[in-house]
This record gives sequence, structure tokens and C-alpha cells, in this order.
Amino acid sequence: MGHFCGRPASRRALREAARESAVLRRGSPRRAGLNARRPRRQDAGVGTRDRPTERGVRPGAPPQCEDTMTETIPFRLNGRAVRIETDGERKLLWVLRGDLGLTGTKYGCGEAQCGSCTVVVDGEAVRACRTPVKDARGKDVVTIEGLERGGKLHPLQEAFVEHGGMQCGFCTPGMLMSAYALLLRTPKPTRTQIVAALDDNLCRCANYKRILEAVASAAAAR
Ligand code: FES
Ligand code: FES
Repeated sequence: MGHFCGRPASRRALREAARESAVLRRGSPRRAGLNARRPRRQDAGVGTRDRPTERGVRPGAPPQCEDTMTETIPFRLNGRAVRIETDGERKLLWVLRGDLGLTGTKYGCGEAQCGSCTVVVDGEAVRACRTPVKDARGKDVVTIEGLERGGKLHPLQEAFVEHGGMQCGFCTPGMLMSAYALLLRTPKPTRTQIVAALDDNLCRCANYKRILEAVASAAAAR
């Protein structure tokens, strides 16, 4: 039987894939070997959904070979301790979206070029589509779902709403996370610094002017 990566799938990989799909049909993260709870509604950020139904692979997505070693990877996710058992080479994006149900982080190019998958790891904006999940071991990961606190949007999210910083909204989580990382290290950035921080985040709606205004506004209000 063929496999996505062109190599024959092992019996073990096929058994694991069948077991995973059965677990996902039942919709229980715990049965998938996770101790993370399913995210609650109030964890969702702007334009996000919290249903853990996505498998993490869609047509055109980079192949995910499953013929690999499983390891335990603990880290903090949006302020909570999580521990997952998976192949450490899997990309953080697919673990967040497929295993942990945090679908606010978006898949765009899969090649670290568009920024739609940006999350913040130990204060730095990283591309989750190219980051092996093992690199998050012991670290503090913040996703778009982690910006909201107690039902209140983060000031950056408020500013995006106020300034019309999103049109289709697909780039918005990545833009917000890049801006969030910028404000962590530079609370009062200049316009040049804002442009530099968001330079690698692409918006197909070309909404850049209002995005920059929103970030500048949030920074000025601090
Ligand atoms: S999906 Fe990661 S940079 Fe485009
Ligand atoms: S708002 Fe549509 S891609 Fe940026």
C-alpha cells in the first residue's frame, strides 16, 4: 500500500492511524493520549473555533509520515501545563490544530513564508508550520486562543476590531501573534519597528495599512 511520503506504510503506522481516526470519531482528547482538556469557549480568540474535529491534514498539506517514534513532550500552552505523546518531529501547527483542537492558528503556505501559523514560544514569534513539536519541550507556548483573558479581548485584538484590522481574517491570528511578540520585547515600538515585525506576515486582502494602525494604536494605549 502506498503512503503520502512515497514509502510503504508499516503495519504499526497503519494500526496507529486506524486507532487515531477511531479516537477522533469518538472525539476524546484523553483517549488520544493527552492530558489536555478540550478548550472552552472563552479560550477562543478573534475568528477562532474550538471544536477539536480537525485531523490536521488537508488536501495539499505537507505529508505527515507516521512511521516514527513516539515520545512524551511536556510544555505550557496558554498558561496551562500539557503533556502530549507523539512523534516529536511532527510540526507544532498540526499538534495544536489536530491534537489539541486549537484551530485559531492557521495553515497557509506550510513553508514559513506567509506567517499565518505564527505562535509565540518563550516570547519569540515562530512559524508553527516548520517547528517540530519537540522544540516546544519545557517551553511556554502562546497561541491566539491565549490572548483573551477572562472573556476580555487582548488590547491588540480590541484595536484590530476598532481599526478594521481584518477583512477575511485568515491572516489575523498570525498578525496578532507577531504583534504580541513585538510588544513583549518593545512595549513602545516605532512605526518602523512595527513594519519590521510584521514584514513577513502576508495579508492577501492587502489590509496592511489598517493592521499597522491597529498595532500602533494598541501600543500607544499601553
Ligand atoms: S503556514 Fe506557516 S508560514 Fe505559512
Ligand atoms: S484579512 Fe484576509 S488575508 Fe489578511
